Amino acid sequence: MRIHIVSLFPEYFRGPFDCGPVRIAQKKGVLEIAFVNPRDFTSDPHRTVDDYPFGGGPGMVLKPEPLFQAVESVLQPDSHVVLLSPQGTMFHQDLARQFSQLPHLVLICGRYKGVDERVRLALANTEVSIGDYVLAGGEAAAVVVVEAVARLLPGAVGDEDSVASDSFAAGLLDAPYYTRPAEFRGLVVPAVLLSGDHAQVARWRRCQALLTTARHRPELLRNQVLSEAEREFLSLELGKEEPDGQKEGNRT
Ligand code: ADE
Repeated sequence: MRIHIVSLFPEYFRGPFDCGPVRIAQKKGVLEIAFVNPRDFTSDPHRTVDDYPFGGGPGMVLKPEPLFQAVESVLQPDSHVVLLSPQGTMFHQDLARQFSQLPHLVLICGRYKGVDERVRLALANTEVSIGDYVLAGGEAAAVVVVEAVARLLPGAVGDEDSVASDSFAAGLLDAPYYTRPAEFRGLVVPAVLLSGDHAQVARWRRCQALLTTARHRPELLRNQVLSEAEREFLSLELGKEEPDGQKEGNRT
């Protein structure tokens, strides 16, 4: 898979892309990342990439010409162009999975007040946000998208079963995990995890995943088919909790 990142700050990506699954995916040759700087597609002496918004108001807007030329310099018939912006549809695991199956992704990082609307209208296939907050630019969002996509590429993560059991892979948040020691500062690992009974462990994990999802993202449960036993477990556990949602062990 190839990813082009259209950014005024290619140096931003040096750290994040040099470690973890993004580095491994590149080393294994399953991912190629390249940068395109819209500033290289300006023709004036100041290499201007932004201008005042028509109609007035605060902030600057990225001009269309350098962005169009930057994107068009790498565009192929199989390219999918993504504009990163707080106005986009929310990024999620299924979108990461869809992106990971594409041959060529072009990620446009906005800056300043935003990008000229014609970029969204005539250049981008999809507009994606990574959350309901405003970043200084799309660069951090591009890091998030690339990392979520890279770890789904073959060989980028050591244990592919681990990816299959991630949060959201089955539409649920993940169960809690423990490692040695079995007791730490008086906190003990649930006995079932030490039992060696794989079927029991799998049932426990499913119940814990349902419980975490019910606590933090109840809307995700709408797409789940729950057994009678799972329903009973959830209503029993949730019935024990304080009405404000605070549960034992949460420090915030
Ligand atoms: N650019 C600025 N804020 C953003 C966000 N929340 N998601 C994607 N791109 C952005």
